[in-house]
Amino acid sequence: MAKTLIAFFSRADENYFGGAMRYVKVGNTEIVANLMKDMISADTFKIEMKNPYSPVYMTCIDEAKKDLRNNARPELVSLPENIDEYDTIILGYPNYWGTMPMAVFTFLEAFDFSGKTILPFCTNEGSGMGKSERDIKNICKAQVAKGLSINGSRAANSGDNVKKWLEQNGLV
Ligand SMILES: Cc1cc2nc3c(=O)[nH]c(=O)nc-3n(C[C@H](O)[C@H](O)[C@H](O)COP(=O)(O)O)c2cc1C
Repeated sequence: MAKTLIAFFSRADENYFGGAMRYVKVGNTEIVANLMKDMISADTFKIEMKNPYSPVYMTCIDEAKKDLRNNARPELVSLPENIDEYDTIILGYPNYWGTMPMAVFTFLEAFDFSGKTILPFCTNEGSGMGKSERDIKNICKAQVAKGLSINGSRAANSGDNVKKWLEQNGLV
């Protein structure tokens, strides 16, 4: 039977919430992924870097910018053995400098997505999806649906929009 995978990257620790820095235990994108888990039947996979970015926000900003400039492919802690059983992959990530964190590029390049559909969602502080959808299309042979942009500071209140988007894509 066709199955859905929710794969996401998310960073906890210090982040910027509408004007103030705060330490959090669960990142914004993971909050949204957890909401989705309660709405649909799906497996989940967290994309984690072997050498994660700093818990300190300003340091993380610099590290991620350097990785983007170098077009880096950070090593991941693990990968799913394969993604053969999934026909739909919901891909969640924060907007980092106008696109996905480079670790998500590492994830996407690890598999053949031909014949699969990727539904991207992106938490951000104003830049929307950035150029992430284009970047996904450049890497993967998948069909890429129109993405869902979520204000990161309001992740916990995004349930209605998330449900609507899942409905539009035939998952609810
Ligand atoms: C390294 C870095 C770069 C970011 N770049 C942008 C950006 O270009 N545009 C934007 O709107 N938000 C940007 N943000 C804000 C994040 O996209 C936002 O806080 C997101 O919800 C974080 O998700 P997470 O908590 O799941 O990691 C950036 C945050 C970080 C840490």
